[in-house]
Amino acid sequence: MTEFSPRVESISISGIREVFEAAGEDAINLGLGQPDFPAPDHARAAAVEAIEAGKADAYTGNKGIRPLREAIAAKHERDQGVAVDPDDVIATAGGSEALHLALEAHVDAGQEVLIPDPGFVSYDALTKLAGGEPVPVPLRDDLTLDPAAVEDAITDDTAMFVVNSPGNPTGAVSPAEDVREFARIADEHDVVCLSDEVYEHFVFDGDHHSPLAYADTDNVVVVNGCSKTYSMTGWRLGWVTASTRRIERMLRVHQYIQACASAPAQYAAEAALSGPQDVVSEMRDTFRERRDLLLDRFEAMGVEVPTPKGAFYAMPKVPEGFVDACIERDVIVVPGDAFGANGAGHARISYANDAEVLREALDVMADVVANLR
Ligand SMILES: Cc1ncc(COP(=O)(O)O)c(C=O)c1O
Repeated sequence: MTEFSPRVESISISGIREVFEAAGEDAINLGLGQPDFPAPDHARAAAVEAIEAGKADAYTGNKGIRPLREAIAAKHERDQGVAVDPDDVIATAGGSEALHLALEAHVDAGQEVLIPDPGFVSYDALTKLAGGEPVPVPLRDDLTLDPAAVEDAITDDTAMFVVNSPGNPTGAVSPAEDVREFARIADEHDVVCLSDEVYEHFVFDGDHHSPLAYADTDNVVVVNGCSKTYSMTGWRLGWVTASTRRIERMLRVHQYIQACASAPAQYAAEAALSGPQDVVSEMRDTFRERRDLLLDRFEAMGVEVPTPKGAFYAMPKVPEGFVDACIERDVIVVPGDAFGANGAGHARISYANDAEVLREALDVMADVVANLR
């Protein structure tokens, strides 16, 4: 008898956690994947109001409250010019649950899922939990996902490929021509393109493009949420948007693992999505300034960084020993190989941190680089 399922034994606690635990209490943490801003006041107020009015005590419908799904549909229209039926959306416990639903609903045992390498840690783990085989697709030197590499990796066993632009851990943004290619590949090869767009609003150079806007079939499934865009990681509110038949399959999973997303969070999310969006552009401008600071400082150190065009991460190519030396000096950065074998030789730096703190951390990094040479 086995004590635990081979699926759960095939995954482990994320390497990022290990890095946090190795650092001292006063360490500067550049390992975090959450914006350092408060949630919008109007989102918080909407949740409080819903709670006080007794609207948030009961289960909502499995897909979530209708006004939230209407706000999400309006968002698709506003940002991508795509008409989405509010019934083709499920509100989930963060983008994380949305990814889980997409994989559970589409991946059969032994089927392959192509994931960016380096890529967000959940793609590999959730694929394995679904019984699938993650197939890493190495990124280009500029850390974007190459559509040709995706197409080359497709086999008869491929169920899905994951696109994440802007990307974690890379900050890379796929240009429109690549996104069009992803849509074409999903159409022509009849595989699902899972487009994780949680960093959609943090693009500094160029624009965000979604394969949803370009596909002719219903093979694109979009995951998004409030965690990053509205700095609401603790609210645990995301969503998945797809065709009616795909949503129906994902709803089967959602119904049994979650029932519905948290009701107060749904009201907060509806307010965040339909209220003023200047909070988002303010965050974006701040992230851009910090990105520029980081690029300047790394250039001065002689450290190569593929220019991150979005999100709030950078992935410099660092000398051997860099991550450990930084952690020893109480600056937490994450080793690139925590995100896949092809991330080796890089470190991921999150700049969701105050500019002053970032400067202090960059001074330490400059010292570390000088000492390692
Ligand atoms: C690329 C990416 N997708 C999805 C998520 C999931 O975020 P959440 O579950 O908070 O919406 C994250 C969080 O770090 C992420 O970086």
